[in-house]
Amino acid sequence: MISFKNEIAKSISKITNIEEKELESYIEIPPNNDLGDYAFPCFKLAKTLRKAPNVIAQEIKEQIDADETIIERIEIIGGYLNIYINKEKLVQTVLTEISEKKEMYGSSNIGQGKNVVIDYSAPNIAKPFHIGHLRSTVIGGALYKIYNFLGYNSVGINYLGDWGLQFGKVMAGYDMWKDEYDFTKDEIQSILKIYVRFTQEEKENPKLTEKAREYFKKLEDGNKKQVETWKWIRKISLENYQKTYKLLNAKFDSYNGESYYNDKMDAVVEELKEKGLLKESEGAQVVNLSEYDMPPCIIITSAGTTIYATRDLASLKDRINKYDFEKAIYVVGNEQRLHFKQVFKVLELMGYQKYASRCEHVPFGLVVDKNGEKIGSRKGNSVFLEDILKEAIQKVEKIIEEKNPNIENKEEVARKVGVGAIIFNDLSNSRIKDEIFDWDMLLNFQGETGPYIQYIYVRTRSLLEKAGYEPKIDDVDFSVLQEKEAIDTIKLLYRFNEIVESAAQKNEPSIVARYLIDVAQSFSTFYNEHKIITEDKTIQNARLYLSSCVGTVLKTGVELLGMEMPEKM
Ligand code: ARG
Repeated sequence: MISFKNEIAKSISKITNIEEKELESYIEIPPNNDLGDYAFPCFKLAKTLRKAPNVIAQEIKEQIDADETIIERIEIIGGYLNIYINKEKLVQTVLTEISEKKEMYGSSNIGQGKNVVIDYSAPNIAKPFHIGHLRSTVIGGALYKIYNFLGYNSVGINYLGDWGLQFGKVMAGYDMWKDEYDFTKDEIQSILKIYVRFTQEEKENPKLTEKAREYFKKLEDGNKKQVETWKWIRKISLENYQKTYKLLNAKFDSYNGESYYNDKMDAVVEELKEKGLLKESEGAQVVNLSEYDMPPCIIITSAGTTIYATRDLASLKDRINKYDFEKAIYVVGNEQRLHFKQVFKVLELMGYQKYASRCEHVPFGLVVDKNGEKIGSRKGNSVFLEDILKEAIQKVEKIIEEKNPNIENKEEVARKVGVGAIIFNDLSNSRIKDEIFDWDMLLNFQGETGPYIQYIYVRTRSLLEKAGYEPKIDDVDFSVLQEKEAIDTIKLLYRFNEIVESAAQKNEPSIVARYLIDVAQSFSTFYNEHKIITEDKTIQNARLYLSSCVGTVLKTGVELLGMEMPEKM
């Protein structure tokens, strides 16, 4: 697809003898369409060219010999060149490209041959599945798809929290109280209840914590009974998570969690020792990070056991060896910021600067209700993700029952819309912000929601159905799509690839989510202003074709976010 930015840069380069690439990086998209399609700030060149910005602007405007089929006209406002591109060219460029690439429109291969390791979801087995893990699952899942779409090879790792003191707690609790709970059905609920009860009772009774340590030590030492119990808990927990993952359509390439590194930590500890990084401190073995304004990174506790950071270092070394990654992304809550800073620093100090610089913690905010209160934090009152998703589906089923009871595949539509609403709500604001979880808001079909985008998509489909045919690109006269609303929509479609690349660069799926809202709203304006099914077949073909292109981009976009698109709703 031609790059208008690049064409403009080329033309300015011919006049100024400044590198195209540099010029291209200065080109802006004006805040509103009245100021042109692109703007070039001439003051950026004032120093190099030793001329005043308005003089530069004048010279460029006079000398530019860009093909008229690309630049339509240029205006000068306060040292800026406001550049208007040829609209017919734009329309032709975008619609032709979509007709050729279809659901691959917007993709690229900038990532070819490069691995991106994405660490996401990672619930802690035996502890309640925290709602924060929903965020990690959804954000990580979107990044996985976005990177793949740009040609990278995404590797999704569910680094299960399947090792640690929480197992000691559950095992000790189980031995004490198992008769009080029902293990014949829904055993996972009973396990969780035991965990929650244990953590409450140990606050009053520190002896319990001691007991949990003993149990965990037995597990670490390979005691047969404890290992059996551990395996059982891990198995039923995973089965339980799978139900949620299935609803969310979440897939992972690896489930190597913390336990997988149990026998791989000695090597890391050895390496740290050899490299002179381990220091003794109050009985623990630590890497001193005071030079970098951080508390020491504990590698071996005073009780002689390894911890979370040790396991993350072992897994990083494993990921370097296995994947030689271009990027390693950790989609984990903001409260672990320090942990990752420490781990990446230690990796660097170990001599792996190249890989340390490719690691990135991708944090996100809490989930709160509309009053700003944290969800899922109340003691013993854990929110089950599966229940939330099912509730969403049920609510949508009710809406369908009221509005469109005769629709085919009701259940499937309700699932796509209900789950989509939850996913979109999670991704529609920049991830570091707290996510507001409010049923009325996230299911509002008129709001900035997943259902709204799906609804607009379904409209594009029903228009084609109403017309009774799908026009071909050869039937489209590009010159008839000149209304402001059509051009606005097409300009947005033109930017799709740039949007996806920027979402990857910032690890911010909300950039795609906001974009989809813009596209849907823009098309909706077009559609409200201009009849699509009309007498004039030339106009009808062109408008229908645009509708179908909008549909293609909306569908590709929501799928990048991990949602599914219904054909009817
Ligand atoms: N299981 C951890 C938690 O829930 C998250 C793990 C994140 N990944 C990692 N490599 N540390 O807090």
